[in-house]
Amino acid sequence: MTPAQQSLKAAEICALAPIVPVLVIEDVSRAEGLARALVAGGLPALEVTLRTPAALEAIQIMADVEGGVVGAGTLLTPADVKAAKKAGARFGVSPGATDSLLKACEDEGLPLLPGAVTATEVMGLLEKGYTVQKFFPAETSGGAAAIRALGGPIPQVRFCPTGGISMKNVGDYLKLKNILCCGGSWVAPADAVMSGDWARIEALAREAAALPRA
Ligand code: 3PG
Repeated sequence: MTPAQQSLKAAEICALAPIVPVLVIEDVSRAEGLARALVAGGLPALEVTLRTPAALEAIQIMADVEGGVVGAGTLLTPADVKAAKKAGARFGVSPGATDSLLKACEDEGLPLLPGAVTATEVMGLLEKGYTVQKFFPAETSGGAAAIRALGGPIPQVRFCPTGGISMKNVGDYLKLKNILCCGGSWVAPADAVMSGDWARIEALAREAAALPRA
């Protein structure tokens, strides 16, 4: 899968909803209920971070939830890419980008949102054909103002920013033309996931799904 094909697919996934929940799943028994609540609330694209031992099994379970499009986040190595694809991930997200990670996604046919923040990083990925990128860590890298500024010289790259985004500041991001969607963990608070408070998570998802985009 070429970088251009990956970016096309990534744009389709970003178009599904204004927010992609970023999920850290400690207990695999919560995976199905969590995915159902988020999808029911209007957030079909879900990023399960590979940061816990439960993550790959959670992806497997969530991949079967109707209406969901489950991806793997925190991809750092080619082995992560292979494992994510095997578990049923339909897209990948990485905090940055290395040549070996990009090659693994091309070889495995996994659409990737590769991470970048500086003009040089964004240009490096664009040169390879990636026109849809993750902007991470968003708030500490200049936030919405930095993405707006990158859109001046590099308008052909569009972003999914994540890191430090919440209902308080998400509006600043979503009003920008070069932002397709935002990622964030606030729609799945750890205490609500642990206690299985799916009504609360569905309500948070519904609120996020209704956010206007540029
Ligand atoms: C992450 O890497 O955890 C994501 O960027 C989400 O960040 P957040 O928890 O600040 O939303």
